Order: sequence, then C-alpha cells, then structure tokens
Amino acid sequence: MSRYLVTPAAHVNGAITVPGDKSISHRTLMLGSIAEGVTEARGFLDSEDCLATMAAMRALGVNVERPSEKAVRVHGVGMHGLRVAQHSLDMGNSGTAMRLMTGLLAGQSFDSELVGDSSLMKRPMERAAGPLRQMGAHIDTLNGRAPVRIHGGHRLRGMRYEMPMASAQVKSAVLLGGLYAEGATTVVEPAVTRDHTERMLLGFGCDITAVRGTVTLRPPQKLQAGSFDVPGDFSSAAFFMVAGCLAARDVLTIRGVGINPTRTGLLDILSLMGADLRLVNHRSAGAEPVADIEVRRSQLKGIRVPEELVPLAIDEFPVFFVAAACADGETVLTGAEELRVKESDRIAVMAEGLRAMGVDSEVLHDGIRLQGKPQGHVFSGGTVDSHGDHRIAMSFSVASLRAAKPIEILDVANVATSFPGFVDIARQAGLDVALQA
Ligand code: S3P
Repeated sequence: MSRYLVTPAAHVNGAITVPGDKSISHRTLMLGSIAEGVTEARGFLDSEDCLATMAAMRALGVNVERPSEKAVRVHGVGMHGLRVAQHSLDMGNSGTAMRLMTGLLAGQSFDSELVGDSSLMKRPMERAAGPLRQMGAHIDTLNGRAPVRIHGGHRLRGMRYEMPMASAQVKSAVLLGGLYAEGATTVVEPAVTRDHTERMLLGFGCDITAVRGTVTLRPPQKLQAGSFDVPGDFSSAAFFMVAGCLAARDVLTIRGVGINPTRTGLLDILSLMGADLRLVNHRSAGAEPVADIEVRRSQLKGIRVPEELVPLAIDEFPVFFVAAACADGETVLTGAEELRVKESDRIAVMAEGLRAMGVDSEVLHDGIRLQGKPQGHVFSGGTVDSHGDHRIAMSFSVASLRAAKPIEILDVANVATSFPGFVDIARQAGLDVALQA
C-alpha cells in the first residue's frame, strides 16, 4: 500500500499551477457526449475519477480523443445517440460520476449498470435515484447503494424537486434526467451549491434559469458543442492556500484557479480567520471566473464557521481542520453532516489522524470543535491513516509544516483520483513529500 513520508519543511514559496477542475471535467465529458458537434476542452483533469467517466462514455459509444494529456476532444453523438454498453460501467472512487451518470442514463432507451470501488459501493445512491424515480425512471439500488441498475425506455416527466440536502450532485442528476423529460424540471436547493452544471448547460444552448436557489430547465431539442478552457481546481488549490497561511516565506501564488463563488467558501472562511489571501489577474475560462491566488503567512484565529458557507467549502474541510488546529483559539464547525458520506467519513477520519498526532478534538454529529495552538509545533508527527481518502492524505501533508517530526501518511494511492502530480507540485511549493510504494 503506497504512503507518503512528509518531512517538516521551514516554508513554502513561489508560484504553482494546479490541475484542472474535477467537477467541470466530468461534466465536459457527459454533456459533450450528448451534444451535437465536437467539444474540445483544454486543461482537462486527467485524474482517475475523470478517466472513469471517460471510459464510461466510450463504452456508451462516444469517441473521446486525447489530443494531449490535458485536452479532450469529445465527438458528440446527440441527445439520442448513446448506445448500450456491453458491460457494467465502473465509476471507480467517484460519487460525482456515479450520481450524474444515473441522471444521464435514466432517460436512455437501454439498460445500464453502475458499479465502483469499495468506498463508492458504500455511499448513498438513493439521493439521486429517488427523485429520478419520481420523474418516471426505473432504477434499482441495493439497500440504497450501488450497483445502480437503470432500466431504460421509460418516459420521464419534468417535476419540481425540493432537495432535502444541499448537494450539487443530486441537483445535477435531476437536471440531467430533466434533459430527457417531458415538461420543465425545477430543483429547489436548501442552500447554494456549486453551479457548474447550470453554467455549462447554458453554454451548450439550453434554456435554464436560476433564481435564488431555484433552478429550472426546459428540455432542449439539442445541445450545441463548444470549446473552452477548464480552470484550475479550487479544491486542489485549497491545500496550498492553507500551506501558504501556515508557512509562506514571502508569497505563494497559485495560478489560474477557478473562483466560481459557489466554490470559494474556504476563501471566506480563511479570511474570517485572518488570512491574507489576495485574488489578482482576474479573467474567465469558458463560463467560469478565474484568478491567481496570492497567499501570505498569516496568524489565523479560531472561528465558528457560518453554516451558509458549509456547502460552498464542502470538499475543503479536511485541510480546514489542519488550519484550525494551527489557529489561535477555538474553532467550531456545525451543519456539516454531509462530510460523513464523502470518500470517507471525513469528520471521524480527520479526528482520528489529528488525535494520532496529539491534537484533541470534540467530534460532533455534524461537525467538530477543536482548540488551536498558534505557536510552535502543533502536530507531533508519526503515522496517520488516510483511509484511502485523497483529500485526507493531502491535508496531512500540509500539516507537516507545523509538525515536530516527519508524518507518515498511509493509503495514499487515491490522491490520483483528483490530483495527479500532487507530490511534484507540493515539492515545487516547498513541502518535503516523498511517495513510498
Ligand atoms: C460535486 C459535488 C459535491 C462535492 C464533490 C463534487 C460535483 O458533492 O463534494 O466533490 O461535482 O457536483 P455533493 O453534491 O455530494 O455535496
């Protein structure tokens, strides 16, 4: 089982570029596949999660070319051009891929089956299957989990769906089903979640409106392909934002990062903690805003995280806990029970790793309470288990900047699901991470 050995480094510095956005890369493959014409995306994330989606679209009869490692050319087959796959579609570790594909496949004329790795097979799938079933889809799950069997050939009806949890994956699954429905589909969100699907559907020419958390899609005749750049993934930049706060020598710049406001909750949270983060060189890529993020060393202070920011920072909490452990005073997070059904139970697994390095916390059913230590070594070092969760592995790498001794991080192979090249980029920034096979 591969692991990282991370030796405490004195500081980080310089300029880095993180790989392309995972959410946008998945959606590019799915929407490009059912569009008319060729969709070309530069800056595509060639991570294991997105490659699982690519393999699925190919199995459904779509020609996806790779003109270079970080570009895809998707030859759209039109809304009704997908063909039955000859085998189960393996979505690997990716909840996004499995839930969005459930929506896309619900409206097809043929049957499909979705499976995944041991982590994905344990995650809840009824949250996507349930509303699609209400629209007329025939979908089976096994005790609410994968395999997800989608029986094609059933007419879908548009509906108004009041989503019980704040989930962009569920919203997107319902909207993708809505592309094939009779009549309009409306999703009402309990809190704002990432809106890449809506932006991209608009870019592909769909009639979609979003007003204060209510998204309405009128089913299109067709989607029109286009070409665009995929911005750097804010969730990958997040590790370096915290690293810079803890230990930038002068300034650590992360170039070309997507700063869609439905993704940048961590910027607001770190700013509330007193971080010196500056967005410069604003521009756009496709339908998404982009900037360079400059991070300077900052003495963070503990906060109570405003609950409305939770869905806007949902993937960033593992590294946020590292920041909170280094802050002056107490930090309290509540309203984040969704963290328990991610690639791992991120509240339990982070608390376990922090405890292994001498940082106590109080685990709440929907969050955590922890007392930070603003000076000196915060983490003892030693061995922590990422439980195969990519974001936990990368977060504990950042903790090394305040560790007394090296940190050994177990079970790190899944970093490749979201951040290929993490070790090289982290080393470029100044972290001393080594992969041990
Ligand atoms: C994602 C939505 C979020 C996020 C995930 C990517 C997406 O999941 O955690 O990494 O691309 O729609 P939820 O919708 O389950 O919160």
